[in-house]
Amino acid sequence: MSRDRRHDFPELPAVETLRDAPYDARGVTLDVLRLDRLHPLWGGNKVFKLLPNLHRAEALGLRRVISFGGAYSNHLHALAAWGAEHGVQTVGIVRGEAPARPGPTLRELHERGMHIRHVSRAEYRRRHDPAWVGEVTRELMPALVIPEGGDNAEGFAGCRELGHSIAALAGGWDVIALACGTGTTLAGVVAGSGAYVLGVAALRDAAGITACAAAHLAPTVRRFRVLERFAGRGFARIDAELAAFMAQFTQRNGVPLDPVYTGKLFLGLHTLVGEGRFPPGTRVLALHTGGLQGARGASCGRILPAAHAVPL
Ligand SMILES: Cc1ncc(COP(=O)(O)O)c(C=O)c1O
Repeated sequence: MSRDRRHDFPELPAVETLRDAPYDARGVTLDVLRLDRLHPLWGGNKVFKLLPNLHRAEALGLRRVISFGGAYSNHLHALAAWGAEHGVQTVGIVRGEAPARPGPTLRELHERGMHIRHVSRAEYRRRHDPAWVGEVTRELMPALVIPEGGDNAEGFAGCRELGHSIAALAGGWDVIALACGTGTTLAGVVAGSGAYVLGVAALRDAAGITACAAAHLAPTVRRFRVLERFAGRGFARIDAELAAFMAQFTQRNGVPLDPVYTGKLFLGLHTLVGEGRFPPGTRVLALHTGGLQGARGASCGRILPAAHAVPL
């Protein structure tokens, strides 16, 4: 049973130890917590960020929830699924004009009854500006507005509970590793687990992610580091090296990865282990934060030679 009974988080799946040759060769233990197994639609880190937000909406008597994301957003995908199952009306403010042929994520948002409002990429850049958010959401009120990626106090608190649950497993890990977008999950796991946390950035902005994570934490808490070097050409860009790594990793270990988050995490760990950055005897717990739905996007599946990678 999860520690936080208020939110009824699902029980964590059993930790799996991977016997992956590069780790064995360096005497490093790689354990994986398959949060993706928690639920096919809102598993991964999503349940921890969304559940406290949705409970807040309920407590405030709000039956509509608005949030933000791209056309392949895991966050909007999970929110729409939750809303459909629990009778909560959901609205997605989606980055970029409506495509002529929507990808699988957008199609499923529609199918699950999410009301989609497309905004230009220029407008979307103002998603953190309260005045703009007020403007785009005004006629949709009353509603709970959740920022992009569930990066708010509730999202952080849910991830802190995840951290507590990991600490309760008492696995003796030297480092917990996870992929970062906003840094909210990292911050929560740092706060709740008391362990050292290594973040692998999915985008080329380790400084921004670090600042965002630090904003959730007390200034004295420095038990984390965000690495940018595995972000490749940037957010949601896949190149031949990442694609080849993911295919080989999944074949060796039977663990499916997505190219936006978990692919970069495991590529990063594999590289660091190969470089001997972890002393023999190090025990690593990698969090599989889900996101497998995003791997179906046509843009994510289009593999580009690194030199020709384009923004998605
Ligand atoms: C699958 C997956 N992993 C990791 C992350 C990163 O989470 P955060 O934005 O809290 O850093 C996300 C984004 O929410 C995600 O969808």
